[in-house]
Amino acid sequence: MMNNLFLIRPSKVLEREIWEYRQEYFDFGETQVNGSCGLAYHDNFDEWLNLVLSIEKDKLRNNVHTSTFFSIRKEDNKIIGSVKLHHLLTPDLENGAHIAYGIRPSERKKGYGKQQLLLVLDVARDMKIPKVMIACGKDNIASAKTALSCSGILTSEKIYEGAVHQHYWIDLRK
Ligand SMILES: CC(C)(COP(=O)(O)OP(=O)(O)OC[C@H]1O[C@@H](n2cnc3c(N)ncnc32)[C@H](O)[C@@H]1OP(=O)(O)O)[C@@H](O)C(=O)NCCC(=O)NCCS
Repeated sequence: MMNNLFLIRPSKVLEREIWEYRQEYFDFGETQVNGSCGLAYHDNFDEWLNLVLSIEKDKLRNNVHTSTFFSIRKEDNKIIGSVKLHHLLTPDLENGAHIAYGIRPSERKKGYGKQQLLLVLDVARDMKIPKVMIACGKDNIASAKTALSCSGILTSEKIYEGAVHQHYWIDLRK
């Protein structure tokens, strides 16, 4: 399948576009921007950017390197989604996952969630991560189907903070 997206790390030149992307989630009534390393919780762009870049470089959070990317549509350079990759799963991250993702509300259900996940799986493979875990609420059909569409295998369901969470694993050695 042709991939219409490419991944790019956040940077100052993308400030306006990233802010528009964030606003679209709010306008849609969502309170977080999945896969963005906490974009919704920062009102200051530079503060968020510095945090994201240092978390990748210096393992500031959970003692794990975490890479954050935006996926950009090749045809018009529009930001379509955000995706975060923890390079390792530590006990602290047990209820988290290697990968978290979001697609901007106006671009959902067009196949981009799958395309974005395929791209970050390539990044993980290049980093020699053998297998990755994706977690989602059991009622989040869109997220579960996205994991399934990239060969995710449902391995467990756990109750976390009162809700059932599913864990999908993707073996990158295959
Ligand atoms: C999860 C999310 C990233 C999926 O992105 P997307 O671009 O809509 O996904 P795609 O179009 O690539 O679809 C992937 C699969 O999910 C299915 N799907 C997507 N949205 C769906 C929905 N609302 N209901 C049922 N199935 C859905 C598609 O049909 C497709 O299934 P297929 O492979 O069997 O054809 C997007 O819905 C999103 O950003 N949700 C909010 C954030 C979120 O929940 N992130 C995950 C946190 S665990």
